Amino acid sequence: MKKYFKLNNGIEIPSIGFGTWQTPDGATAISAVKTAIKAGYRHIDTAAIYKNEKSIGEGIKESGVDRKELFVTSKLWNSERGYEKTLKAFEKTLNDLQLDYLDLYLIHWPAIEKQFKDWKNINAETWRAMEELYSQGKIKTIGVSNFLTKHLEPLLETAKVKPAINQIEYHPGFMQHDTVALCGENNITVEAWSPLGTGKMLNNETLIAIAKNYNVSVAQLCIRWVLQHDVLPLPKSVTPHRIKENIQIDDFEISSEDMQTINKMEYFGGSGLNPDKLAF
Ligand code: A2P
Repeated sequence: MKKYFKLNNGIEIPSIGFGTWQTPDGATAISAVKTAIKAGYRHIDTAAIYKNEKSIGEGIKESGVDRKELFVTSKLWNSERGYEKTLKAFEKTLNDLQLDYLDLYLIHWPAIEKQFKDWKNINAETWRAMEELYSQGKIKTIGVSNFLTKHLEPLLETAKVKPAINQIEYHPGFMQHDTVALCGENNITVEAWSPLGTGKMLNNETLIAIAKNYNVSVAQLCIRWVLQHDVLPLPKSVTPHRIKENIQIDDFEISSEDMQTINKMEYFGGSGLNPDKLAF
């Protein structure tokens, strides 16, 4: 499996990221990050709203691995949208992480029609701040998260710098075909948050049976399946043996027949969050 994805701005991003949504702040987050880096992860994904950036930063520092070897992502929270607020929120994130640049900064969720009459303009203004930070070199790559086609299309009309990434929920039973297709047409790399469906994939009989054939866990099967779709998985765990397991996906390849079987699965669980219906 390839070790990096090449983004539309030429930057290379390690092909599995370490997810930290729902990782408790403090000792748990510090130790999870250190375990992950020791296990070989070089890509860490956090967000201001996870409220663990300080601990993630601490874990990165304590890992002893050179900053340049790591790819660190964070995300702008919804209350901070707009040009000025985005600039400020970014500085806080950078401070909390104790870093002097970010590899990737994402708009966490789009402003949506249900909440704001001028939602397109809000997203455009937020994006203008992202472009400014990008041009200053404070962020190496900028992107979005949870943007469905109806949110991405207007942004692409006003953006001077095209997003390099769209991070969306993606796992068996939830492939978000329209959004993935639009990203493909625009050379936007898709990242998969909750590639294990927040753990809901793990007890599925079909996946258990397929995983058994390859002598891997359902988690490994899901992560490999995501990668074989050229989507970048961000599995989350705080459990050392799972953290290690989730990066060991090179010793097997899912056959096209099994890929098809998984592709055809109907929705059977996930976060339940719909970017176009949220009230936060
Ligand atoms: P934990 O963090 O307690 O180890 P997702 O990445 O789809 O959001 O899924 C995260 C959930 O899946 C967490 O509850 C995590 O538990 C669990 N998980 C992560 N990796 C594995 C694994 N290899 N085996 C079983 N459960 C896992």
